[in-house]
Amino acid sequence: MSSYHQPVMAKTCLDMLQLKAGGIYVDATLGGAGHALAMYEAEPGIKLYAFDRDAEAIAEATQRLADYDPILIQANFRDLRTSLAYNKVKGIDGILFDLGVSSHQIDNAERGFSFDKDATLDMRMNREQELSALQVVNESSTGELRHIFREYGEEHAAGRIARAIENARATKAIATTNDLTAIIESVVGVGSKESLKTKVRIFQALRIFVNDELAALSFALTDAINLLNPGGRIVVMSYHSLEDRIVKNIFKLEATDCVCPPAIINCICDHKSKLKIITKRPLMAGSEEISSNVRSRSAKLRVAEKKKGEQCYEES
Ligand SMILES: C[S@@+](CC[C@H](N)C(=O)[O-])C[C@H]1O[C@@H](n2cnc3c(N)ncnc32)[C@H](O)[C@@H]1O
Repeated sequence: MSSYHQPVMAKTCLDMLQLKAGGIYVDATLGGAGHALAMYEAEPGIKLYAFDRDAEAIAEATQRLADYDPILIQANFRDLRTSLAYNKVKGIDGILFDLGVSSHQIDNAERGFSFDKDATLDMRMNREQELSALQVVNESSTGELRHIFREYGEEHAAGRIARAIENARATKAIATTNDLTAIIESVVGVGSKESLKTKVRIFQALRIFVNDELAALSFALTDAINLLNPGGRIVVMSYHSLEDRIVKNIFKLEATDCVCPPAIINCICDHKSKLKIITKRPLMAGSEEISSNVRSRSAKLRVAEKKKGEQCYEES
């Protein structure tokens, strides 16, 4: 078992992907390559294209997958379509998204993702990216901060925490995770369950904003669905209610024929369903897995299948 990241619901992911020899698959979120390795062990005859925006993940996976011949791509999965086109891939037989951050990213203090490890505020998945949490916390207006905490953290003390940040940085820049934690605690107190939840929500909201995670997900899901060959499957594991809502809504939209408003009697949208939804409700990890891997507790796994007779993207 790798200490980099323990893959969540690996068997269910494999069952759902229905790998076949010679098929072309994508791991959109390679991380420590736990799922990718499980895919190769289940079906060594696959062709795998794997993405991660984090150079450390690509380096780890290069070692772990040394016995196989994956194409590892350091890129945002938002650019899935163009990156695959660059590799002359026109259609895929399955794709896996295991969203969020890896244990390695959270546990590595210097990445600045975690409120219980003191470090410079950072939170960039791709460390070549310019925008970091340091900039967001010190340079965003109070209104912008309130919006980030409310929108991405669903935090009810968003306004008070944004104002506390504004007051604190008027005298001294907020440099570290500990600085930010102290400001949050000055608003919601120390030691209670609610204070802990607020810290989780504020740090998560900043991470989602810094990495523009929700927009990337929407773009990539739509492109992935278009790229799927008939019968190909898309498997998405999310750990945050906003992500799961995006997955659910995009699957629902792409599994629907007409999407005209109810007042329109004769369809004018010409929308045709491309997907069959395989999981009416999200699948969750079992109690045994949750007790051995706490990160699996919030996982929600949704699966859909490209309808037969649907083509993937035509190259222009
Ligand atoms: C939960 S981990 C994946 C763990 C992996 N399934 C395993 O078994 O080791 C999520 C990974 O996705 C990457 N990631 C998140 N959003 C991304 C994006 N938009 N584009 C590319 N990689 C992304 C993160 O850097 C992280 O390494």
